[in-house]
Amino acid sequence: MTTRSVILGAGHYLPERVVPNAEFEKSLDTDDAWIRARTGIERRHFAAEGETTSDMGTAAARDALADAGLAPDDIDAIVVATSTPDLTFPSVATMIQNKLGMTRGFAYDVQAVCAGFVFALTNANGLILSGQARRVLVIGAETFSRIMDWEDRTTCVLFGDGAGALVLEAQELTGTNADRGILASDLNSDGRQKDILYVDGGVSSSQTTGFLRMQGKEVFRHAVEKLAQTAHNALAKIGMTGDDVDWIVPHQANLRIIKGTASRMGVPMSRVIVTVQDHGNTSAASIPLALSVAWKCGHIVKNDVIVTEAIGGGLAWGSVVLRW
Ligand code: ACO
Repeated sequence: MTTRSVILGAGHYLPERVVPNAEFEKSLDTDDAWIRARTGIERRHFAAEGETTSDMGTAAARDALADAGLAPDDIDAIVVATSTPDLTFPSVATMIQNKLGMTRGFAYDVQAVCAGFVFALTNANGLILSGQARRVLVIGAETFSRIMDWEDRTTCVLFGDGAGALVLEAQELTGTNADRGILASDLNSDGRQKDILYVDGGVSSSQTTGFLRMQGKEVFRHAVEKLAQTAHNALAKIGMTGDDVDWIVPHQANLRIIKGTASRMGVPMSRVIVTVQDHGNTSAASIPLALSVAWKCGHIVKNDVIVTEAIGGGLAWGSVVLRW
């Protein structure tokens, strides 16, 4: 018998305000056709004034708990992936713990930018396998609209806000690939690549929040190559290939990156979950958002083999293979 982190439920939250590409045409030298053709994005959601990352993460967590049929105090730990916290501290995770009315357990944030959810999921799996927690809420929540330079057309049209969450539970299973739950993961980073994707402000440097800066072409080049490689690495750890995968659920940054990665993995687009057209790039929230949307609309069903893969600032990148 082997302990597995099995997914009991999924949930998500998207802010009410939907911003179509055409809205940027009023203030920037850009247009809907360019954004669609280069990115696949058609619209994104932006948080309302005063609406925070912990508000959205709490809503997604409630949705996931309802899906799992659990109450907040059934949870032992909350791990939140975010780069856009409400405050410098305390963590978004402890704020969500409080908003959920959860009176026990522990909560903390992890930060690996757009790869954050893959890192958080792997981290939560570690908590479960080491016996630290039996049930973990893993949340990705972001308000990237707060770190956009609205005069920079090369970045501000790409991102959106939102949150997604999964509930994991320890279960004793067979130890084979037939088990439900997390089967393998692969994490990587390369700090030499800082300058191609970063935010130009922070507590110990400028004491400002800063704005996102990106060399899009360079990030694109790294993304297609590294995402296919990390997915391959995670699958190889358990003797699987792209042929064994029911769904790729990629980080939703750009449709061209998603297609390029799937093609390198030999997986047809009919087996890839794509939400980038509706959400834009919601950084660490994009994978749990896509998982929850696909689960709720019936694309993902119990026992499907899923590979998630993501890359973001750092650079940091990785993938997780799981059976739903
Ligand atoms: N509207 C119109 N024109 C634009 C826009 C826009 N919104 N943005 C850029 N352009 C122009 C550029 O200025 C350039 O013009 P020029 O040739 O006169 O200089 C031209 O379009 C082509 O620009 P490129 O940067 O070469 O366009 P590219 O095809 O590379 O697409 C994009 C740009 C969409 C940013 C792409 O490079 C990309 O998606 N990169 C990866 C980004 C990504 O995935 N980031 C997520 C990681 S997330 C994280 O960790 C936060």
